[in-house]
Amino acid sequence: MAQYQENAIVTRIEQLSFDNFRISFDSPQITADSRPGQFVMVRSAEGTAPLLRRPFSIHQVDANGNLQIYFKVVGKGTQLMSQFIAGEEVSLLGPLGKGFEMKKDKAVYLVGGGLGIAPLLLLTARLAENYTEPKKITVILGGRTKEEVEPLVENFTSYGVTVLSTTDDGSFGDKGFVTNILEKQVMSTESMVYTCGPEAMMARVYEISKEKGLACQVSVEKEMACGMGACLGCCKTKADGDYTHVCINGPVYYGEELQWAK
Ligand code: FES
Repeated sequence: MAQYQENAIVTRIEQLSFDNFRISFDSPQITADSRPGQFVMVRSAEGTAPLLRRPFSIHQVDANGNLQIYFKVVGKGTQLMSQFIAGEEVSLLGPLGKGFEMKKDKAVYLVGGGLGIAPLLLLTARLAENYTEPKKITVILGGRTKEEVEPLVENFTSYGVTVLSTTDDGSFGDKGFVTNILEKQVMSTESMVYTCGPEAMMARVYEISKEKGLACQVSVEKEMACGMGACLGCCKTKADGDYTHVCINGPVYYGEELQWAK
């Protein structure tokens, strides 16, 4: 799979809530080869600090070479990124990793919590455009508050899919967790579940999928220094006790491939 180091131009910055941002880049090479579930490494600044690139899921791409990432300000690097300005050149490396496996004509459930919503938008787009009828796609979005969920809903509904929302405080959608909604769905065992979000949430999504006899793909979040299998910084334990490099073997796995905390 082709990978590129591309000097992308920032075309737009959207502040979707107090600390959640979405950046659009003109990045035609990476965009052309991007699959849902893959990621890019973004260099947040030139010079000394912070030195390393950081991984971000590919949130959306379009036919005009635009690539989007969606992130929360959690430290120095993301703080710097939130101050990018349109026209600025930023070094991106990607597309990296193994994306989601998509199959024809399946009913699918996409379950995203917090920033884990990020990779599900491109997945929704590709599924709806090429794999299954939009009415067979259900997206369940969750966050702590309205600010984390509401700004993204329209991006998903624009594909004609069903979107169900939850918030921890009940300020938008149902009060509670995405897993409460998933549990209530009537699903055929032919359905596929895709999830990304906090580890405990994904563990529960996998458990529910297993109980219902469904295949479940999880997109794992891990710190990454190189993104290319060279630094051992992204190891995760597999079900058989061995290790896997999330950056090259993931970030997407079938639930049964990984070891989950009890
Ligand atoms: Fe360096 Fe995976 S991030 S090996």
